[in-house]
Amino acid sequence: MNPANIKDFEILAAARKTKKKLRKRIIFSFRLFLILMISLLIYSFIEPYLLKINRIEFQDEDIPKSFNGFKIIFIADIHHGPYFSRKRVKKLVTKINNLNPDLIIMGGDYVHKDVKYIEPCFEELSNMKSKLGTYAVLGNHDHWESTLRTEKQMRKAKIKILDNKSYWINYQGTRIKLGGVGDLWEDSQKIERTIHDVKTEDFVILVSHNPDFAEEIKTDKIDLMLAGHTHGGQVTFFGLSAPVLPSNFKQKYRKGFVKAPATTVFITVGVGTISPPVRFFCRPEIVELTLLSK
Ligand SMILES: [Fe+2]
Repeated sequence: MNPANIKDFEILAAARKTKKKLRKRIIFSFRLFLILMISLLIYSFIEPYLLKINRIEFQDEDIPKSFNGFKIIFIADIHHGPYFSRKRVKKLVTKINNLNPDLIIMGGDYVHKDVKYIEPCFEELSNMKSKLGTYAVLGNHDHWESTLRTEKQMRKAKIKILDNKSYWINYQGTRIKLGGVGDLWEDSQKIERTIHDVKTEDFVILVSHNPDFAEEIKTDKIDLMLAGHTHGGQVTFFGLSAPVLPSNFKQKYRKGFVKAPATTVFITVGVGTISPPVRFFCRPEIVELTLLSK
């Protein structure tokens, strides 16, 4: 072999070595990417079990002094059913009772996929304890399963139905107004029934399963609206936005405090899930809302 041939051979061998190294790197990167994707997929099935307490405060000049520090537990979208067992509803009740609430408010969607889940769900929820009781609206899923059976079980569980109704909540000599409207998709919304006897200086909370109703509120008498329904999207792009959201206002009413045209809304990401039973950067929550007077 002459020197020129030897040089060609060496160049060829080096090129083969580089190609082999590159192929190894590509295979390694692909495997790493695959492991990462599988891990994130597995995690999305675990996250629905990571129930957290979301502690929030709401300060308003209409909140009476005696309600300063008043603790409301707000939950929505339990979806008891194939993906959220009765045992988990029981655990949820224990967690709520441990928070020692003054009042409990529920925002609808108690069951998922079958009417048979309504009775056991409210049997468990009837064990919730608070100073001033539990008030709740129905969600679209409750109407889809059975409006009548849901209302019957709510009454049996001593839960006050808030759909197109309102109540004065009396506490230490003063009072606030708590009202609700029917689900935006499956019922009517009669807000007058909440505001007909309130003055502008009264503190008023309105509960609507669907946050989109906030856009229809024209009165300035509603100080705070509580809603659920969106589940925060369940699956988000690292908590920033959700590709799928059941709202006509894009990401506006996805979660948390939102300024609506005539009121402030708080939207909970909820407790359970709908199909598929996954969450990603959108952990389920129990909301602990503390009222603060000014
Ligand atoms: Fe829901």
